[in-house]
Amino acid sequence: MTDSLTSRIDRALQTIVNPRSGQDVLASGQVRDIATTTDGKVRLSLLLASNDDATMARTVRQAVEGIDGVTDVRVDVKDAGEFAAERGTSAGSAAPKRAALPVMDAAPQAPRSSVPAPTLYPNLGTIIAVSSGKGGVGKSTTTVNLAVALAQMGKKVGLMDADIYGPNIPRMMGVDSPPPVDGEKIIPLEAHGVKIMSLGFLIERDQPAIWRGPIIMKIITQFLRDVAWGKLDYFLVDMPPGTGDAQLSLVQATQVTGAVIVTTPQEVAVGDALRGAKMFQRVNVPVFGVVENMSYFESPETGKPMAIFGTGGGRRLAEELGVPLLGEVPLYPPVLEGGDSGMPIVVAAPESTAARKFVEIAKLLDK
Ligand SMILES: Nc1ncnc2c1ncn2[C@@H]1O[C@H](COP(=O)(O)OP(=O)(O)O)[C@@H](O)[C@H]1O
Ligand SMILES: [Mg+2]
Repeated sequence: MTDSLTSRIDRALQTIVNPRSGQDVLASGQVRDIATTTDGKVRLSLLLASNDDATMARTVRQAVEGIDGVTDVRVDVKDAGEFAAERGTSAGSAAPKRAALPVMDAAPQAPRSSVPAPTLYPNLGTIIAVSSGKGGVGKSTTTVNLAVALAQMGKKVGLMDADIYGPNIPRMMGVDSPPPVDGEKIIPLEAHGVKIMSLGFLIERDQPAIWRGPIIMKIITQFLRDVAWGKLDYFLVDMPPGTGDAQLSLVQATQVTGAVIVTTPQEVAVGDALRGAKMFQRVNVPVFGVVENMSYFESPETGKPMAIFGTGGGRRLAEELGVPLLGEVPLYPPVLEGGDSGMPIVVAAPESTAARKFVEIAKLLDK
């Protein structure tokens, strides 16, 4: 680690001296919020005062571009005066802030230190992000059934669909009208005892939603703040798969209590899920546990279990992360039918193994 990319960046920045202050741009805090990705993308902020030489932006960029291992550089120039007012610090005196990027496979994004501290929403209760490495593993199915199971246990539950690629919570919960607005607040829809808000209400059905980071952040903040959730015990968030803008936005927007990682038994799915889970741990969101979905096939006719996707992926992932395996849910065709008709399996067939597994997991989370 003696010659990591970040230390090479530091050394390069230390050679750039601001003629006005006589200090180098790193020591003076003029360059800050340095974020890097494993594939060599670098993003940083440069504070320029009105009497600074604007060509410093170019100097900084060229210095960083010349560093071994750097593939892309983005310099965000900020007005030093505005910056100081915003953060209540005197620009040019504070130590530079640096944050490891939680996102390793995407373009560089704003590190956590460049946004305000997460806002607390005590009314939302325990905030649980349900995440997965890949799509199609049953993340939304799990979120919906856990939400309804908690509601059946008498808890007050909110469900936020933050899956920008496939916001299908409304379909799974059987709601599709846009939520009403009352003055400043959006009134969440309610189904099976759960309050629901979805990105799906904002876009046309079957339209691909391609949103950029800042917009996602805005929408997530709005969903947390401007929806009349009332007082909740649990707030479940269905995340998009992977480790992208939505994950980053959520952990920046509020204090997420913990994450639940959904995976299937296959090896590939587990690798992706591990990366997703590590991202949460890196930003100090504890992983509550792993749910292995479609663990084995359960025939609706005979009730016989049958391993079809290999076994043990969920357990291995849980061990790797040092967290509990919360449950193994069988692949059971009525789960799919229930998802399509707005009847989660814990409502449609509460006595089925799949439903009982979801209820057990909900109880583990509620301990
Ligand atoms: N345990 C299960 N048994 C049967 N079908 C399932 C099960 N879990 C999920 N499915 C189905 O698999 C598909 C993908 O599940 P979904 O929850 O949408 O995944 P994700 O949110 O991870 O993309 C859906 O059609 C869903 O109904
Ligand atoms: Mg989904």
